[in-house]
Amino acid sequence: MSLKEALAATAYEVEKALDDLLPVPEGAEARVVEAMRYAVLGGGKRMRAFMVMEAATLFGVDRRCSARVAASVEMLHAYSLVHDDLPAMDDDDMRRGKPSCHKAFDEATAILAGDALLTRAFEVLGEPDTHSNPEARCELVIALGKASGAHGMVGGQMIDIASEGKQLTADEIGRLQALKTGRLIQYSAEAGAILGRANSMQRHMLVSYGRDVGAAFQIADDILDVEGTAEEVGKATGKDAAAGKATLVSILGLERAKMQADMLAKQAAEHLDSFGEKAANLRELAALVVARKN
Ligand code: IPE
Ligand code: IPE
Ligand code: MG
Ligand code: MG
Ligand code: MG
Repeated sequence: MSLKEALAATAYEVEKALDDLLPVPEGAEARVVEAMRYAVLGGGKRMRAFMVMEAATLFGVDRRCSARVAASVEMLHAYSLVHDDLPAMDDDDMRRGKPSCHKAFDEATAILAGDALLTRAFEVLGEPDTHSNPEARCELVIALGKASGAHGMVGGQMIDIASEGKQLTADEIGRLQALKTGRLIQYSAEAGAILGRANSMQRHMLVSYGRDVGAAFQIADDILDVEGTAEEVGKATGKDAAAGKATLVSILGLERAKMQADMLAKQAAEHLDSFGEKAANLRELAALVVARKN
């Protein structure tokens, strides 16, 4: 199976898990559930989900368990996108090729749908079907909390917004991006190790891989904002420069930003050397992250 086929097969599997794990719209609160489903189902590359599933495969984890964790990560990610698109944040009307959640519904519903996706993500991790060992479930919950909270994704979003129109150094931008995007991608790889009860060396290798893929991923996103079209990427482009966002592209230029992303992708793949052939998909994924067109 090629990497593209493996990605598509996993996306299908995780879509099903999401559909099963998301609440059903009913009762007077049905609208918020409809908005949750709108935001997370039927779109997205499912790259984080793929990382969870592939990393878990290295340790022979039951796919029904890893699919639940993959779905949880995609819920958390979708929440971050719903809030990122709000008028108070990036004010984006298009996401995944369709109206963003607050456009399809309304702002209050989008805020609540994001909140409920965030909450459900943690609930799923805590449920017994996610792992037979309660210690593993606790580790999954704690690591996701760290990755997504004030010193993780939320912290990165804070710095991103506060830095608009300011000139940051490359190191400062590196930290901003590690928090807003890197931590959740890092978690996606680490979650496979947690599910597989990996030893600390194996876990460390996956964390390092996720950190470098995450850094490369956000640089690629920033490059696509300059070079991509809305049809290709499914969201408005050319917005970072207009909003004065602090990106590596803005201080290094496209060519050097691309070199940096390539370097990070190569470095990411090397962290997995000790896993041999079993990690071929993850290694190839690192290269795809920087070569992608959407
Ligand atoms: C977009 O993430 C937000 C960033 C962190 C750059 P993705 O590019 O993974 O978005 P989807 O899930 O494929 O829509
Ligand atoms: C957002 O980064 C990262 C998140 C934590 C949601 P961007 O603002 O660059 O993501 P896009 O370009 O809107 O997808
Ligand atoms: Mg943003
Ligand atoms: Mg945005
Ligand atoms: Mg972007």
